[in-house]
Amino acid sequence: MDGEPGRRPPEIDVDPFDERVLADPYPLDATIRDTAAVVRLRAHDVYGIARYQDVRAALQDWQTFRSGAGAGLVDFWAREPRRPLSVVLEADPPWHDAPRRILEDLLGPSTQRRMREEWTRAADELVDRVLPPGSGESREFDGFGDLARTFPLNVMGTALGIPEEGREHILEFSDFLLNGFGPRNELARAGRNQAPWLAEWVARNCERDVFTRGSLGDQIWSAADRRQILPAQALGLVRSIFAAGFNTTVHSLAAALHAFSTEPRQWELLRDDPALLRHAFDEVLRWASPIQTFFRTTAAPAVIDGLTIPPGSKVLLFLGAANRDPRRWKDPERFDLTRDPSGHLGFGFGVHQCVGQHLARLEAECLLAALRRRVRRLEPAGPPRRRLNNTVRAWESLPLRAELV
Ligand code: HEM
Repeated sequence: MDGEPGRRPPEIDVDPFDERVLADPYPLDATIRDTAAVVRLRAHDVYGIARYQDVRAALQDWQTFRSGAGAGLVDFWAREPRRPLSVVLEADPPWHDAPRRILEDLLGPSTQRRMREEWTRAADELVDRVLPPGSGESREFDGFGDLARTFPLNVMGTALGIPEEGREHILEFSDFLLNGFGPRNELARAGRNQAPWLAEWVARNCERDVFTRGSLGDQIWSAADRRQILPAQALGLVRSIFAAGFNTTVHSLAAALHAFSTEPRQWELLRDDPALLRHAFDEVLRWASPIQTFFRTTAAPAVIDGLTIPPGSKVLLFLGAANRDPRRWKDPERFDLTRDPSGHLGFGFGVHQCVGQHLARLEAECLLAALRRRVRRLEPAGPPRRRLNNTVRAWESLPLRAELV
């Protein structure tokens, strides 16, 4: 990204948050990628970047592409926020660094190792319940409601240390929040009546006395006791996990089940070779990009491929489009376990790259391993239903049929 003055980016009239586009983002993704390295999206007077190398470079260049003005459409440098900003996702260095370090320690590889046994058992028990053994038989179930939605609420909810009752409200809260990163369209307005009640529920459940001893939530509050972070930051960190640590995994696991049910050959490959388990989820994230977009705000002029983005502009980064950019990936539309998906942007990149990715990967690995043991073949048992969201490529139901081992 050079700093020389350049030309004005070409304009595109299609609204990326139109419900028809959210239901099928691929044509617009291709249009933006093929039009130019940067486009101006007239519907919201923002810029858009969709080519792999440019999205990646923008994510890396946090000095120019800032998160502190909000990861959504509204510019919080220009307008007073109507909600608390995330203390990590929506903070730039140096404010980002201390809370980020706390989460890196807490959600990193050592916690992943500690959770492995318990989450493996939890996945086996869940699969036993949803798909009781019966060699050669086939069973129908809802891949979304029965597995993808249930498993993270169960294992992450317990790891975080919150009561079982009411956990589903985390998904409603996060769905509302992530809709709010887009414009004030029907999707963002739909949750408005629930919003005050949900905000109260979340605030109450982020307080320190809620968390079981030794849980991740309890440990975040202990960091405040040790004065590594302020109490307000502890509250903010727990809230960030509510916002980013459940909905994302739920819809990513659903994406995995959808991918394997529609590409049975890939399920066969996974069944034949357990070593594929580790990066299978990365290929799911590349192919499906459950988080489709995030905004940044330019702190200085940015010139990409001779096209200028002025300072103070909102820029929509199309992670999903980058993950299917033919300039980077061969046959990008193919879900293919034999490719190397490393470098995908499904978890973002740079200083804000997903800090929960170790735990997200473990959740996927445990659930897929449990299914691998039980299921010979997975296929659709009816039309899947999506839940439209301004940020997440989400699901409502995923009817599946499993032929048991
Ligand atoms: C950041 C995706 C799971 C917590 C991010 C970002 C993406 C992402 C794309 C970067 C945002 C940006 O650059 O603005 C995902 C996906 C997940 C997942 C696809 C599931 C497969 C989780 C989990 C947790 C979590 C399980 C917590 C337990 C966070 C937090 C951030 C973040 C706190 C902000 C990090 C920072 O700004 O430094 N995630 N995430 N995520 N994620 Fe995840």
